[in-house]
Formats: sequence, C-alpha cells, structure tokens
Amino acid sequence: MATLWEQVQASVAAIRQKSKTAPAVGVILGTGLGGLGEGIEKGTAIPYGEIPNFPRSTSPGHRGELVLGKLSGKLVAVLEGRFHPYEGYTAEQVTYPVRVLEALGAGTLILSNAAGGLNLEFKAGDLMAIEDHINLMGVNPLVGPNDERFGPRFPDMSAPYDPELIRLAADCAVRMGLPLKKGVYAGVLGPNLETRAEYRFLRGIGADAVGMSTVPEVLAAVHGGMKVFAVSGITDRCDPDHLEPVSIEKILEVAAEITPKMTQLVTELVRAL
Ligand code: HPA
Repeated sequence: MATLWEQVQASVAAIRQKSKTAPAVGVILGTGLGGLGEGIEKGTAIPYGEIPNFPRSTSPGHRGELVLGKLSGKLVAVLEGRFHPYEGYTAEQVTYPVRVLEALGAGTLILSNAAGGLNLEFKAGDLMAIEDHINLMGVNPLVGPNDERFGPRFPDMSAPYDPELIRLAADCAVRMGLPLKKGVYAGVLGPNLETRAEYRFLRGIGADAVGMSTVPEVLAAVHGGMKVFAVSGITDRCDPDHLEPVSIEKILEVAAEITPKMTQLVTELVRAL
C-alpha cells in the first residue's frame, strides 16, 4: 500500500499534467464561498474524480473540483467542495486536499466556513476572522505514525491563524466598509446542531462561534508549515436562553447571502498578500 506521501505525490503528478500552475495560495471554499472559482482567470477545473486518491464530495452546497488559475493577479488553487468528518470521512481524507495544496507549493491557505454565533454581539450574516480554535471534534489528522516529510511530530499551535494575515484581512475589510468580527471557533463533529446545554458550555469555554469543519484542515496546514487565514460566516445565533429551532435550509439561505461579502473579502486579501 502506498504511503500518504506517495499518494499525495501521485495526485500532484496528475494535476501537473493538466496545469503547470504553481499556486502560491490555496483556498478551501466552505458553505458561503462557493462561486469564487468562477472569478478565477484562465482557470483549469479538475473534477476530484480525475485526481488519483482524492476523496469525493457528497455534502449539499459543495461541488467537487480543484480550480487552478489566477485570482487578483496571484496564482491560486481553489478547492470547491470540502469534506467533513460527519460525512464519515476519516481525518486523513478530510485533510488530503490540504496535503496536495501544500505539495503543489502553496505556502498560504485560506479557508471559509459557515458557523453558529455564540458571541451574543454577533448576528446572522456577520463575518468572523478566526483568531484561534478549540478542537472538540474527537478527531485529529495528525494521529498515527508521523511522516517527517510532512512536518514535525508535535507541531506548535501557539498561533495557528497567522496574525499578519488577520491584520491584512482587517485592513481590507475596513477599506471595503465591511464589518469583520474576530473570535474563537469551536470545531465539533456534528452532524446535529447543538443542544442548549452544549451552547452554554461552548460559550463558557471561550468560543465565539461553532461549526463542523476547518479545524482538521488547519491542523494539517500548520503541521506542513503553511500560513493560515480562516473566516466564518455566521449563519445563526446560538443563544441558549432564547434558542429557536434552525433548519439547515435557513442556514444555507443565510450562507448564500454571505457569499458575495466573503468572496470580496478573500479576493481583496489575496490581492494584498
Ligand atoms: N452549530 C454547528 N455548526 C453550525 C451551526 C451551529 O449552530 N451553524 C452553522 N453551522
């Protein structure tokens, strides 16, 4: 059986046959950012099914292709469609695309997601730059034998979200007249939304937002030495004392409203890099 390293090399070789682009920046589009790929100049879109060893996308609102090209004049690789542990993918599968972006040469990773707002100063439709995370997913892509070619056994997590990228994004947001909150993202397994007691607990431990993605990809990216910027689109308020049932349809509806702002912020951030 091929090692993870060998599998990634095979994926990279197949991608390079279709595009010689050496992307500086990788982007993972979560709920709320689908569509950025359409703004890519001279893009080569490769369906995940045509990349050896790549997982396949099953989630609603997630396409499955890798788009290589230029955004704001920079060479980028955009993953349209991500994988979540709640779908049954292993942490290794969820982070496989990050390993591929890294092996393609991308030194920076930008991620987006949809999240519930725990901080009561947030409202549905807000954007939050992730300053730090709490991993409550019960999975970790770094478990198992460590291949030093990817990164060290015990990666440092003192600043997984690059402070300079957060500062740049905040500057872009000010220029765009777009309010950008900052906060801590708690990653949970899902797929159910949380109980009131869980929302109370999450607020108590210092989380400002909660969602079911991003943390595994960030762990793999930091392990591999990438600089990370991640932004959450707040799709619902999670106030345990006034909790209303939320439907996934409503969440996707708010995510769709967030898309243009999110797309613009990422476009401007890439320009500022
Ligand atoms: N919890 C978890 N994930 C989410 C939520 C939530 O309240 N809202 C959007 N994604």
